[in-house]
Amino acid sequence: MDVLIAGFGVVGQGITEVIRDKQELFQRRFGKRVRIVGAFDSHSCAVDPAGLDPSALLTRKCATGMVGKERLDTDMAQLTEELEYDTLIEVTPTNIVDGEPGSTYIRTALGAGRNVVTSNKGPLALQFGELSALAAKNQVQLRYEASVGGAMPVINLSRELLMGEKIYSLRGILNGTCNFILNRMKEESLPFSSALQEAQEMGYAERDPTYDVEGVDSACKLTILANAIFGMDVTYSDVVRTGIRGITEEAIALAGEQKKVIRLIGEISENRLEVTPRLVPIGHPLAIGGTLNIVQLITDLAGEVTVVGPGAGRKETASALLSDILAILKDEEVRNGAK
Ligand SMILES: NC(=O)c1ccc[n+]([C@@H]2O[C@H](COP(=O)([O-])OP(=O)(O)OC[C@H]3O[C@@H](n4cnc5c(N)ncnc54)[C@H](OP(=O)(O)O)[C@@H]3O)[C@@H](O)[C@H]2O)c1
Repeated sequence: MDVLIAGFGVVGQGITEVIRDKQELFQRRFGKRVRIVGAFDSHSCAVDPAGLDPSALLTRKCATGMVGKERLDTDMAQLTEELEYDTLIEVTPTNIVDGEPGSTYIRTALGAGRNVVTSNKGPLALQFGELSALAAKNQVQLRYEASVGGAMPVINLSRELLMGEKIYSLRGILNGTCNFILNRMKEESLPFSSALQEAQEMGYAERDPTYDVEGVDSACKLTILANAIFGMDVTYSDVVRTGIRGITEEAIALAGEQKKVIRLIGEISENRLEVTPRLVPIGHPLAIGGTLNIVQLITDLAGEVTVVGPGAGRKETASALLSDILAILKDEEVRNGAK
């Protein structure tokens, strides 16, 4: 499989390392290599139809800040259209205003008959229906396990292993930063501002924490799950959303007196698509601490199924991208075997 990597930041470099390190698995399981034939970041690109050396790409990015040898002003979308490759790994920044630049890269790749594997929430939270239809029309795959909860395998689990279940509803914690803040507020009786500052100092929260603390990130992930698992046709703006900025120390203390904690919960049910702070009894799975993500699926046969995992991180997110790459290789194997 020949891949083109769009975006060479934390996740782009993570998946490059994984592709380099998992060649033996690709060979043993599928009798194939996965070759990186192109990679680009905001202002440079590297291309070699014979395959690029992953270690050399990583070394150059680290030394010069660029994945390519020189700074270019080329339109990278042209590369996604014209280069020969099988799968685009799209890992550019999330933008929930218009999904760009990821939306254009994904649309161009799908239109050119390439599979797409992405960790980018923006295009999926805004244009899920359109992009899925484009993939179906061109008979290619659009996979996005890494876009929700990093290494927490909720999408592929629901769609593949729980295929026979009727999933009635889903609830979970989809943002590790908010969970860390709420937990620290309770543990140390901290005000919101001090817990946020601590999260920023530890690298969990961005300098501008709006996406996390206003519930935007959770709402994007909930939208993706609603479309992917429940077959809804919704966008990010359909989610009723309240963040955690207004949670006071007093509210946390009062919850504690009732043996409860406050958690930012996302919920999908027949008539509800909502992200909001809720009271959760201490000892309940959703009372989880730290930066982990957790999702509970309520199903007809298996009952309550709970999935927990790291919501972010270089190798954790690469692990979810890898699961999608392997799923595409497996699908190709099945289709070739059926011929
Ligand atoms: N980090 C995580 O743990 C995590 C977890 C789950 C999902 N995600 C999602 O995965 C995606 C990537 O995250 P990240 O942490 O790797 O971000 P990042 O470190 O900021 O890297 C983003 C990369 O995209 C490149 N880029 C920016 N604008 C571009 C453009 N117009 N065309 C081409 N490339 C462009 C940047 O180029 P330069 O290097 O030149 O600046 C950079 O290489 C995001 O959508 C994020 O929400 C991340």
